[in-house]
Amino acid sequence: MPNTPRTRPISATLRDGRTVTIRPLAAEDGPALLAFGAALPQDDWLYLQNDLRNPDVVGRLISARDAEHWRQLLAVAADGTIAAYSSARLLPGWSSHVADLQLLVAEGWRRVGLGTLLARETVDAAREIGAIKLMVDIVEEQADGLTIFTRLGFTREGLLINHTRDRDGNRHNLVVLGYRFPES
Ligand SMILES: CC(C)(COP(=O)(O)OP(=O)(O)OC[C@H]1O[C@@H](n2cnc3c(N)ncnc32)[C@H](O)[C@@H]1OP(=O)(O)O)[C@@H](O)C(=O)NCCC(=O)NCCS
Repeated sequence: MPNTPRTRPISATLRDGRTVTIRPLAAEDGPALLAFGAALPQDDWLYLQNDLRNPDVVGRLISARDAEHWRQLLAVAADGTIAAYSSARLLPGWSSHVADLQLLVAEGWRRVGLGTLLARETVDAAREIGAIKLMVDIVEEQADGLTIFTRLGFTREGLLINHTRDRDGNRHNLVVLGYRFPES
């Protein structure tokens, strides 16, 4: 039985002294999420399933904010800027007990522990929507992402060869990491 969703914002101080609030995506976050997407480094689009530069995509994410099978979290700076976005979404059909995770930190907020912090919160959010297994796809070169999820207990379950292409047409392998909650 899924737990009640956690809606209480959490305040956290990062390694460089800056503070963020972690809270669920809200109806009024569209413009800030688009600004977050527009500011992401070009290379990041290699790693993303959702194009956060596209108003239609962002509109769909906002509309899904209360969906039972989906949790979307933001880390928001004191001035309202979005520093990070994450999501946990239950897969359809015979994998409806499995949540797929995404994690994305703005360039100016990287390497101060925010990715690790939000990844933990996203794992908790996935458990809240009833997931008993988690998975995350990471491009093989994305060492920080692999570090974060491996430390959380994820293990490598697969390697998809030449599964993604960057903007120059170069192919990259995709690592599939999985995690099962201990009691499952
Ligand atoms: C991957 C990503 C989420 C990491 O976010 P982040 O906020 O920088 O992560 P953290 O600060 O928690 O750092 C994670 C680890 O990266 C490594 N790292 C961080 N700073 C580092 C530095 N200055 N030098 C070398 N390694 C460093 C460390 O191993 C670190 O863990 P530690 O600080 O506990 O030792 C971010 O780079 C990103 O959004 N990338 C694009 C999207 C993506 O690939 N997402 C992952 C798959 S969904």
